[in-house]
Amino acid sequence: MPSFTVFKGSKDGSIVQSETKKGELKGDQVLLKVTASGLCGTDMHYRNADMVLGHEGVGIVEETGPDTKVLKKGDRVGWGYEHDSCGHCEQCLRGNETYCPERAMYGMADLDQGSFAKGAVWREAFLFKIPDNLPDEAAAPLQCGGATVFNALHTYKTDPIETVGVIGVGGLGHLAIQFAAKMGCRVIVLSGSDSKKDEAIRLGAHEFFAMKGAKEIKVSHQLNRLLVTTSSLPEWDLIMPILAPGATIHPLSVDDGNFSIPNMPLILNGITIQGSVVASRHVHRRMLEFAALHNIQPVVEKFPMTKEGIEEGMAKLEKGGMRFRGVFVV
Ligand SMILES: NC(=O)c1ccc[n+]([C@@H]2O[C@H](COP(=O)([O-])OP(=O)(O)OC[C@H]3O[C@@H](n4cnc5c(N)ncnc54)[C@H](OP(=O)(O)O)[C@@H]3O)[C@@H](O)[C@H]2O)c1
Ligand SMILES: [Zn+2]
Ligand SMILES: [Zn+2]
Repeated sequence: MPSFTVFKGSKDGSIVQSETKKGELKGDQVLLKVTASGLCGTDMHYRNADMVLGHEGVGIVEETGPDTKVLKKGDRVGWGYEHDSCGHCEQCLRGNETYCPERAMYGMADLDQGSFAKGAVWREAFLFKIPDNLPDEAAAPLQCGGATVFNALHTYKTDPIETVGVIGVGGLGHLAIQFAAKMGCRVIVLSGSDSKKDEAIRLGAHEFFAMKGAKEIKVSHQLNRLLVTTSSLPEWDLIMPILAPGATIHPLSVDDGNFSIPNMPLILNGITIQGSVVASRHVHRRMLEFAALHNIQPVVEKFPMTKEGIEEGMAKLEKGGMRFRGVFVV
């Protein structure tokens, strides 16, 4: 019977070390030894919940269940936000299993395990082989952050002649800059201050605008697409004038409450607002292949996979000091 160390959130926000026990492996379940986990902005929302945190995992297959078909002991795999879906509803059949009514997702199911852990048991069907040229600590942040921004760009058919805006240079944002630049787009970054300018340009941005105190945003080209990767939604009054007619906004931020946006610029310019959550598995696979081919890797800060290491990483992210994705390593 597998059992492994896990790290949970708690009411007062401190990290609690615990032990999870699983039954014998059934069906296509796989036992993993976790080697690395990214720290996503979404983990901050669950810090006060009594559940195992983390959903950007990488690990090594230790044991396979009776119905596994692809993976074998020693394989290096990743997993993200979604762990299971029904497999037979319309969304699953269309390859949109992230919208399956029976989906099992982080924060809603399987609360006894996550990627802030030393081990995990997941279905083979929801694990992704990691390309050889991506080290564990680089592959981990791609499992949610990378998948989310690549999905917004790829699934909604970004064209290389577009100008793509990215607002918020954090874990998601610094990957969005790299993916959009490698897709051939002009990339314009909007950030709180000037402090991330050099790094954003190095990652592929063509232009950078610091928002602090600005009454108006000045950019060389209107945006055909805007990926919103800030930890809370931006001031739309400032943003609307720099959107090209027909532009698409991808509000990726997890932000409670209602989404509100100026109505007239939306109507008069035919703006689309496109919600999305992470990526379906076929898009996730493409993302890993694309990242491996173009050497897209997150910029990471490593911390030990311990209660203290996780608390230190989360404190740094909360203070806005992370450059650009925290990764816990075992
Ligand atoms: N839709 C999905 O499927 C999905 C998946 C993953 C994550 N998310 C959500 O996406 C968001 C970004 O995640 P992340 O992991 O990239 O977080 P992150 O690393 O914390 O980055 C967020 C960035 O937002 C900016 N920011 C910081 N504090 C802010 C504030 N008070 N108001 C506005 N902007 C602020 C900063 O960028 P600058 O310094 O450049 O201003 C920061 O680097 C989170 O809300 C997360 O929950 C959604
Ligand atoms: Zn995430
Ligand atoms: Zn389904």
